[in-house]
Amino acid sequence: MASLPLPLTSATPSSQSRPIFARPSYFLTHAKRSNRLRVSCTDGRNKKEASRNVETPLGKVDRRNMLLGLGGGLYGAANLISTPGASADPVKPPQLDTCGNSTYSTNLQQTIEVACCPPTSQNPAIDYQLPPVTQMKIRPAAQNLSPEYIYKYNKAIECMKKLQEENPDDPRGFMQQANIHCAYCNGAYTYPQPGQDPFTLQTHFSWLFFPFHRWYLYFYERILGKLIGDPTFALPFWNWDNPKGMKIPKFFLDHNSPLYDCKRNQKHLKSVVDLGFTGSTDPLQVVSNNLTVMYNEMIGANTDVYDFMGQPYCQGTQSSYAAAGAVERGSHTAVHVFVGDPREAANEDLGNFYSAARDPLFFCHHANVDRMWTLWQYDLSSEQIPDKTIHSDNFNNAEFLFYDENAQLVRVKVGDCVNNQLMGYDFEEVDLPWVDYRPPPQTTKAKVTRATKTAENTETVFPLKLDQIVRIIVPKTKKGKADESLVIENITIDASKFLKFDVFVNDEDDDLTELDKAAYAGTFAQVPHKGHKTVTTWIKLRLTDLYKRMDVEDDDTVLVTLVPRHQGEGVTIGGVKIIENPPPPKSSG
Ligand code: C2O
Repeated sequence: MASLPLPLTSATPSSQSRPIFARPSYFLTHAKRSNRLRVSCTDGRNKKEASRNVETPLGKVDRRNMLLGLGGGLYGAANLISTPGASADPVKPPQLDTCGNSTYSTNLQQTIEVACCPPTSQNPAIDYQLPPVTQMKIRPAAQNLSPEYIYKYNKAIECMKKLQEENPDDPRGFMQQANIHCAYCNGAYTYPQPGQDPFTLQTHFSWLFFPFHRWYLYFYERILGKLIGDPTFALPFWNWDNPKGMKIPKFFLDHNSPLYDCKRNQKHLKSVVDLGFTGSTDPLQVVSNNLTVMYNEMIGANTDVYDFMGQPYCQGTQSSYAAAGAVERGSHTAVHVFVGDPREAANEDLGNFYSAARDPLFFCHHANVDRMWTLWQYDLSSEQIPDKTIHSDNFNNAEFLFYDENAQLVRVKVGDCVNNQLMGYDFEEVDLPWVDYRPPPQTTKAKVTRATKTAENTETVFPLKLDQIVRIIVPKTKKGKADESLVIENITIDASKFLKFDVFVNDEDDDLTELDKAAYAGTFAQVPHKGHKTVTTWIKLRLTDLYKRMDVEDDDTVLVTLVPRHQGEGVTIGGVKIIENPPPPKSSG
């Protein structure tokens, strides 16, 4: 086929592709009806859970099970497909008794140590088995919550804070739950390696990002449910990909609520979240940018499963920074930095990984990040990526440690979390207004041609310190609308800083507050974490979709514009090149 259709072929969730489960309203009206406004904290100890005997249709109608080939076990023959990182070992769970301090840097470049280790356990860790799903929990969109649900959510967080006061060592308490993020993300877990620097576990910037946070939220949600004696409790998601949900959900702003956190950017409490970080002050432009960002990172910019999920990362990997997937870099990072408080030394709470989960909003934010994974897997089909499963043992056998709702230490596998329904939860269905949000075609190229005359050349410009806008002429692999990607290599960054740059191709105007144009190719960004350290990473952005709306027929080069959105130094770029994409793999059915 000469002109491939856009990767997206079906978008709207339908009853064929997605089993329908009870709506959240069902649980509010059917479960615990008589005492739904009288929720109280339990002591967190085991009691018989009354509601575990309802049959669900899971398994009968769920095409996800078929996708995973559950009949033949989770890790079937597809494992034989060779994947990057195949010669290493999957990440091992941390040893709690060798957990050390985490670090972070302040905006004044001081490195601070912080103790985030979980309590050690009397009982050894057990391998976690997903309990049979008897009732699907439905995570609701935060903007649709009923007053009863908000009440219940508040109560659950209040119980978690109370548990912390009563027993600071209970791993289910509020600060202990927050510190999980700090330990896994700011360098508390190191593994000695003979003859080499120790390996430091990092659950961001790689294919571990979605699975780690999924397990984290899974236990957090179960603990909250247990604390209010309601096993149906499901975490609301902050629906920041939809104009109806783009502001911080109101109930987080009530000063008297346990969901309140004073360490947030006071200028952003009631404004539309800026997923593009362009600094535009026009809310309509920001909404349009946001939808463009979502379209780009969910659909437009990805050529393979790793572009979305993040690149392979294994035990012993020298740098703890592989390469983040599109959502992690883009919208996910933007929300962290948007909410973090610039008055604080390190943009606490959400603006630094060590403190992010101290704000209850973190979990509501990440419930939406988790939803993006599910949407991408099951609601967006793609010719370019027909198989959205990672078939590597190094992915599926990677393990983490958590405390479950009974304070039992458990070891979980990445391969057990790739299907959210098997974990007993799903998401309320809401519109996906970004699915078709393609920028309009760009029709003139006179300005591009003019700008090309003064642009830099790939042979002479690297290594390039990115502290201002740079324009570079990059050769294509062939003339015209080829199936190509842009690779930005050897991006050397300071891990302790917020860094972001946007990438445009053949951009013809200089209005850098607009992302909703054909020339926007994608984004690199990171949330500050760890004390000062230089790390190296890379990104790949698919250009095929962009070329379709552009006049590139006779061109054998394009003009790449890199626009830093952060202040000052922190990024050096080693190279920019265009590669041809491999043909889309045949779907295995
Ligand atoms: Cu682990 Cu959003 O960060």
